[in-house]
Amino acid sequence: AVAALTPKRLAGERILVTAGPTLEEIDPVRFISNHSSGKMGYAIARQAQLKGAEVTLVTGPTALAAPHGVKVIRVQSAAEMRDAVMGLLERTDIVIKAAAVADYRPKSRSGEKMKKSAAALSIELEKNPDILAEIGGMKGERLLVGFAAETQELVKNATAKLNAKNLDLVVANDVSQEGAGFNVDTNIAKLLYRDGRVEALPMMGKEELAGEILERVELLRGEGAG
Ligand code: CTP
Ligand code: CA
Repeated sequence: AVAALTPKRLAGERILVTAGPTLEEIDPVRFISNHSSGKMGYAIARQAQLKGAEVTLVTGPTALAAPHGVKVIRVQSAAEMRDAVMGLLERTDIVIKAAAVADYRPKSRSGEKMKKSAAALSIELEKNPDILAEIGGMKGERLLVGFAAETQELVKNATAKLNAKNLDLVVANDVSQEGAGFNVDTNIAKLLYRDGRVEALPMMGKEELAGEILERVELLRGEGAG
């Protein structure tokens, strides 16, 4: 019934959504990762499908079921997410990057389980590719939406990401605020645009926020941005 009531305003748009954390293995039993339930990205994928878009969801490990009618590609590491996203880019009009990508990965992965013999342990990390920045560098006619998770100077830091990654819209979250962030069902977001506009949204459910974000995406596509 809900689907029938949703205007198909994104019909014909090919939307790529990323969601969830990435997971970087240290050895066969250990990994480093980020806090992320995947709920925000899955909600965006679901709502975009209801609005008539052709949706592909590239997702790190989550406990969530695949949204109805959405093509799901499961990945583990940031490197795998990058390869999946880059492979899909040519057939994509809109990219929405909600994934919490691990910024670093262990420089080498031990093939055997590391034993706890040492009193202290350091693991050398190397930087992962910045997937969104890479897409921003070859943007073409695409519309790019990024997320920014911050604990301080929200607008300043998120604006820097918008510019550095060549984005059309940034969904900025102060993840240290109660009712925002990773493992709750609500979010408090500020939407930042290329022209410097900042739109503060009230606390709302992630499903509702997904609808708000996609409404802005429709408007930006209408204006010919991207
Ligand atoms: N992102 C990405 N690839 C990465 C890191 C981040 O595509 N290796 C994307 C995220 O999916 C998000 C945006 O970039 O849409 C911002 O992520 P965030 O972690 O907030 O910012 P970073 O650029 O990684 O900077 P920092 O973590 O230092 O704040
Ligand atoms: Ca990061």
